[in-house]
Amino acid sequence: MNILVTAGPTREPIDPVRFLSNRSSGKMGFALAEAANQAGHEVILISGPVHLEAAEGIHRINVESARDMYEAVSKQIDSADAAVFCAAVADYGSGEIAPEKIKKTGETLTITLTRNADILGSARDAFHFDGVLVGFAAETQNVLAHAREKLEKKQCDIMVANDVSKSGIGFNHDENEVTLIFADGHERGLPRNSKLDIAREIVREIERLARLRIA
Ligand code: CTP
Repeated sequence: MNILVTAGPTREPIDPVRFLSNRSSGKMGFALAEAANQAGHEVILISGPVHLEAAEGIHRINVESARDMYEAVSKQIDSADAAVFCAAVADYGSGEIAPEKIKKTGETLTITLTRNADILGSARDAFHFDGVLVGFAAETQNVLAHAREKLEKKQCDIMVANDVSKSGIGFNHDENEVTLIFADGHERGLPRNSKLDIAREIVREIERLARLRIA
């Protein structure tokens, strides 16, 4: 299969030297790319700025802003049989980037941010993607309820519910603990394990759903 993976944070520029970003390390997305590559799939990894190396054989496309990631996904998703959206995409960005470095003047500085397009939310309708679609829901409360809502809203086959309030897992850690929520209503908890082992299980579920589609 051809599997597209988005990973890492995005950087939303404010002026030529500053940006807004988040704490995503990219580790979960890179683990997914590695697990898919090791399982013999062709992987396109679209990543925001991270300090990670991708294995040889993974086709990596580096992007900065949410808008760049949207453009890259829109170009690549046609060739994918499955797409896993693991990136922590900024929900808002600076609509207009100041052409020069913003100088300090007043005691406060107000920046207006505008809503970025939802890349995963564009997959089915705007990009006409009909492959296996996997999203991540990073939540701190009512984790499963929010993840179920996102599964439906973004028309995914699997939503990976990730409780990022738990210590030692999620953002920046090497381990994770997630619940997979499937479009047919069933759920499967994956107990705490390395991100690579969690990724391997997710890849197996993607393979299973892809086989069901063909059958
Ligand atoms: N996502 C995306 N593009 C965006 C925002 C989110 O592709 N602009 C994807 C993420 O990669 C993830 C899923 O949508 O797979 C859920 O992201 P999350 O930030 O948890 O949800 P949001 O839809 O942004 O909702 P909220 O921030 O309100 O919880």
